[in-house]
Amino acid sequence: MNKEPVLKVSGLTTEFRIKGDWYPAIRDLSFEVNANETLAIVGESGCGKSITALSVMGLISKSQGRVASGSINLLGRELLGLKEKEMESIRGNTMAMVFQEPMTSLNPVMTIGSQIAEALRYHRKLSRRQAGEQALELLDLVKIPSAAKRFSDYPHQFSGGMRQRVMIAMALACEPRLLLADEPTTALDVTIQVQILALLAESKARSGMGMVFITHNLGVVASIADRVAVMYGGRIIEQASVDELFDRPTHPYTEALLRSMPRVDRDRSDLFPIPGQVPPITEETPGCRYADRCTMNKEARCTREVPPLAPVGGSSTHLARCWVRAEPITREALQ
Ligand SMILES: Nc1ncnc2c1ncn2[C@@H]1O[C@H](COP(=O)(O)OP(=O)(O)OP(=O)(O)O)[C@@H](O)[C@H]1O
Ligand SMILES: [Mg+2]
Repeated sequence: MNKEPVLKVSGLTTEFRIKGDWYPAIRDLSFEVNANETLAIVGESGCGKSITALSVMGLISKSQGRVASGSINLLGRELLGLKEKEMESIRGNTMAMVFQEPMTSLNPVMTIGSQIAEALRYHRKLSRRQAGEQALELLDLVKIPSAAKRFSDYPHQFSGGMRQRVMIAMALACEPRLLLADEPTTALDVTIQVQILALLAESKARSGMGMVFITHNLGVVASIADRVAVMYGGRIIEQASVDELFDRPTHPYTEALLRSMPRVDRDRSDLFPIPGQVPPITEETPGCRYADRCTMNKEARCTREVPPLAPVGGSSTHLARCWVRAEPITREALQ
C-alpha cells in the first residue's frame, strides 16, 4: 500500500492585511493526512480552522490575505505557486471542500441537479446526459429522498440538512483523493448529523480518500476521526491519535476543551466553559497564545517564548506545545 501522505502541509503561515499591516491567522502549521484517514481539526471559534482549509484549497482572497510561507503538497505535487488555472483543475477534482456555509456555495438560481452535473462536465468532460445521470446517482448516494423528483428543485426548496447533503454530493462528484469538510454538521439537528457523519465515513472507506474534518465539537471527533489536531490562536497546540487525545490529553487547552464538552455519561451541570477568549489575530504575543487563559502555574517563558510542538512521553505521534506540562493527564483525572 502507498504510504505517501495524500496531503502534507509544512510550516504554513497565512496572513491577513488589517489597516495596512499583515497579521498571521495561522502560524507555522504542519500536518499530514494519509489515504483512508480522517484528521480532525478542532478548536474554538477564531482559532484558524477554516483558514487552514481555505489555504489548502488556494481560496484565500488575494485582496485581503496571502499565504506567507510554507508548503502544501498534494499527492507529491507542490500547490503553492501554481497558477490559478492549474488550481482550478485540481479544486473540485483531486481535492474538494464542503464549506461551512452551504448557502453561500450553492448557486440559488441553478437547479440542484445541474449544479452537480456542472462539476462533472467541467472536470470529467462528460456529456450533458452522462453528467445528469451521474448527478442523479450522487443524489441517491447522499440519500436525498425521491432524488429523481428533487433533481430539478432549486436550493431554497431544500432543507438545511438536504442542502448539506447536496454539498457533499458535489464535493464527492469527481471522487477526490482529499476531502476538506468544514463544520459539515454544525447547523443540523442531531439525527441528521449522525446520518451525515455516517455518509462521510462510508464515502471515505469506499474511495480511500483522505479527509480533513473541521469541527469545534470534540464529541463528533470521537465518532469520525483517526487523528486530531487541536488548534489555538492559529497554531496546532496538540496532535495525537483520537484514543490518545481522549485518554491522555496533555495541553491545558485540550483539557479545558474536554471539560467544556457535553458527554453522554455526565449531566449538563458538569460542564466548564473556558473563561476568556481566543486572541484576535492583531494581538501579538511573544509566548504561548493560551497563557492568559491558562490555569496552570505558569513559568516566565510561557509569556516570553513560543513552546515547541514536542513529543509527549516518548511518543512520536503524540505532540503538545506546552512549557509547563510535558506529561499527559489521565481520563480519570478529568472526571
Ligand atoms: N478576511 C479576513 N481578514 C482578516 N481576518 C480574518 C479574515 N478571515 C479570517 N480572519 C481571522 O482569522 C482568524 C481565523 O479565522 P477562521 O475563520 O479560520 O476561524 P475558525 O477556527 O474557522 O472559526 P469558526 O469556528 O468560527 O468557524 C480569526 O481571528 C478571523 O477573525
Ligand atoms: Mg470556520
